[in-house]
Amino acid sequence: MNELRQNITNVSNEKLPNDDNIGRRIENQLLDFNIKENNIFVGDNLKVMQDINFYNKYKGKVSFIYIDPPYNTQVNFSYSDRRTSIAWGEFMNERIQASYSFLNDRGCIFISIDDSELANLKTLCDSIFGKENFIGSFITKQSQRSNARLINTIHEYIICYAKDISKVQPFKISRTEIAEDYEMINKLYMEVTNKLNSEGYSSADKLLKELVKKYCYDYGITWLNNYNNLSKDGKIFFAKDLSTPGKPRTVDIPEINLHLEPLKSRGWSSDKRFIELYHNNRLSFKAGRPYLIQYLEESEDNAPSILNFYSRFGTNDLKKLGLDGLFDTPKPVDMIKYFIRLVTKKDDIVMDYFAGSGTTGQAVLEVNEELKMNLKCVLIQLNENVHPNTEVYKKCLELKLQPNVVEILKFRLNTFCQKNKIVNSFKEITFKEINCE
Ligand SMILES: C[S@@+](CC[C@H](N)C(=O)[O-])C[C@H]1O[C@@H](n2cnc3c(N)ncnc32)[C@H](O)[C@@H]1O
Repeated sequence: MNELRQNITNVSNEKLPNDDNIGRRIENQLLDFNIKENNIFVGDNLKVMQDINFYNKYKGKVSFIYIDPPYNTQVNFSYSDRRTSIAWGEFMNERIQASYSFLNDRGCIFISIDDSELANLKTLCDSIFGKENFIGSFITKQSQRSNARLINTIHEYIICYAKDISKVQPFKISRTEIAEDYEMINKLYMEVTNKLNSEGYSSADKLLKELVKKYCYDYGITWLNNYNNLSKDGKIFFAKDLSTPGKPRTVDIPEINLHLEPLKSRGWSSDKRFIELYHNNRLSFKAGRPYLIQYLEESEDNAPSILNFYSRFGTNDLKKLGLDGLFDTPKPVDMIKYFIRLVTKKDDIVMDYFAGSGTTGQAVLEVNEELKMNLKCVLIQLNENVHPNTEVYKKCLELKLQPNVVEILKFRLNTFCQKNKIVNSFKEITFKEINCE
């Protein structure tokens, strides 16, 4: 790895990051601000991140960073995206290094990229985070291009690194969020429910057992084998064993009418657990032995690497706000929400230092609403004017908006808050604009 780091250092001529050395610190560029608020910083992300105030306040405080940098496609959108590969690498290297110190121990960074600079980005991230902290890459879909020359590339990547991979919890998601599993679970439920309604419980239970075997074979999976129990009200579940490794013991809990003889060589779960499961209707019995009920729709898996998000969903998200065409390359809100949910806990801080139209800001607001979380968001966006003669420019004029990406970002977030009547939105959600240029 030292060799890799050496290589990257030679190319970029940058110092390696550590918490005390991420380049020049700039004194007092930023006005005072509070990290317990949602903040939008206006300016070059490198300058903002090097600001001494910003550095001191956010250092080690951020759990999740998502960035969607210009991909160096050599196309100019309403913002610029044309550099040499070396210049792009230097540009990104400085910025990713600068952001490294803001991650806390369990923090992760997710970076969108396409084929143009994937290899460059991967090499520089390996050198900054260490190859061992590479979590993996996700693949999402983008729309077909009519001008494809050889391959019609319809995917892009999100590469993902941890500050310290040993501190990161597995990325678990509900199987109902995995498109193929969702479809299969629905189909299984439909067939079993029809049987239950037409021929009663025994036939439905028998059919479930047959279908589980068949689906495992057809879909090439094994996990479904466990879900072959049907409750009287038609729910499919896994009956999980409640014995534990350890000393055999008798269970006697009169208040829930449970008496269990000791097993030969294993213990039983604690009395407290049995009582809790009983009161939550999570105990089922087979031949007098208790099992924990886990419903099929609650089953989880590690997040798969191929995701079902299309870039054009981001365009639809703007459309839903009545802001059709206000930005060229907005990412899907649901995709960023998905990543946020994989990583964050209730009071965490989320950061995006290539904020664009503010998709990450909207994703944070939505996750807070939906999951009763209290995430805070820090967005950084260059004070970049929209190129004239573009559709985005025209749209800005139509909305009587100054053609500038920061104005677009603020307008989008304000529109979202107003449309969704987020309670006390403007008091609780303070978007501070701090001009540091
Ligand atoms: C691909 S767009 C991000 C789009 C965003 N993910 C969204 O969903 O709207 C990249 C953004 O980074 C901004 N940007 C480019 N260089 C920057 C810099 N040095 N500091 C801050 N923002 C920058 C561009 O203005 C552009 O809005």
